[in-house]
Amino acid sequence: MEMNSVNHQIRLAARPSALPVPSDWELTTEPVPVPGPGEFVVGVSHLSVDPAMLRWINGRSSDSAPVAIGAVMEAGAAGQVTASEHPGFGVGEHVYGAFGVQEFARSDGTGVTKLDPLLAPLPTYLGALGTTGMTAYFGLLDIGRLSEIDTVVVSGAAGAVGSVAGQIAKIEGCRVIGIAGGPKKCRWITEDLGFDAAIDYKSQDVARALEKHAPGGVDVFFDNVGGEILDAVLTRLARGARIVLSGGVSQYGAHQDRGPANYLRLIGARASMTGFIAPDYADRYAEARAELAGWLREGRLVSREDIHQGGIEAFPDALLKLFAGENTGKLVLAVP
Ligand SMILES: NC(=O)c1ccc[n+]([C@@H]2O[C@H](COP(=O)([O-])OP(=O)(O)OC[C@H]3O[C@@H](n4cnc5c(N)ncnc54)[C@H](OP(=O)(O)O)[C@@H]3O)[C@@H](O)[C@H]2O)c1
Repeated sequence: MEMNSVNHQIRLAARPSALPVPSDWELTTEPVPVPGPGEFVVGVSHLSVDPAMLRWINGRSSDSAPVAIGAVMEAGAAGQVTASEHPGFGVGEHVYGAFGVQEFARSDGTGVTKLDPLLAPLPTYLGALGTTGMTAYFGLLDIGRLSEIDTVVVSGAAGAVGSVAGQIAKIEGCRVIGIAGGPKKCRWITEDLGFDAAIDYKSQDVARALEKHAPGGVDVFFDNVGGEILDAVLTRLARGARIVLSGGVSQYGAHQDRGPANYLRLIGARASMTGFIAPDYADRYAEARAELAGWLREGRLVSREDIHQGGIEAFPDALLKLFAGENTGKLVLAVP
């Protein structure tokens, strides 16, 4: 296997309070690490770019410590073992792990999963077969307690998690309404992914559109966005509704989180609003991955990866794409 001699990395140089600017990042170059006993080195080929990264760097994550100034930016990534002194990981094997925004990472195998490139292309392990898929799957089925009679609304519906969540709800027999930004994304989720209806939050009044598309009320709201969209859906809940708090991307770049103004609607609807973190389900990932892989194989589920080229240096721009709504499906950074 051909080896580069240098390892490019993106490090956090300063802590942004809102969206990061170029001076918040530093590109560093180091020799490619050499594995010690019980270690191996991975050549990263695909990096997961996630909205939560903004919370990790601005220090407002509710479930993890902030990335330290000067540290390599944290990221999940897929790649191939290039050197190994580890009995369980051989050169050439494909793996996923928290390798960070760098071309090569040294690992002792903790938290690393082996990938089968014959089962699915590597980027799909960052999409429907990765944390993206796990979030959609457990959020809907476990937290949302989905049943086929439910009317399900998904926000961020043309994004990574949202597009998978909506498709799972369709597979389970639900009526599914997606909320997304712009006509192109709305067409994609209805025409290609089979959602029953789409609401373009950039040009439509969400609460009014829900009156039309969900006349009996919303049973499950899978929320990736928060803010005004959450407030609008709160006014359209069916009795016993479950709000699944996956994330709040509309708040990640804000200086202060905006709370849900309409939360008292939960009382009359006897509804619940529950946050969750996908890795809490890690011991059930294999079960979910097998089911998701089956749906992919049968053509009932589409995993769309939006591949951003440019390598490690392009990471700062790639991250901003998420907040400008410039991705459709899972945003992945290709590392040449
Ligand atoms: N709980 C968990 O364990 C877990 C795990 C992974 C991800 N998540 C959460 O899942 C959510 C989606 O993540 P993802 O990776 O799938 O990202 P994504 O949805 O693929 O990308 C973000 C999307 O958010 C939308 N957006 C950005 N700013 C917005 C705003 N101000 N208002 C409304 N929409 C906005 C954009 O779509 P439009 O063009 O439609 O605006 C953009 O494409 C995030 O909140 C993330 O934190 C949770």
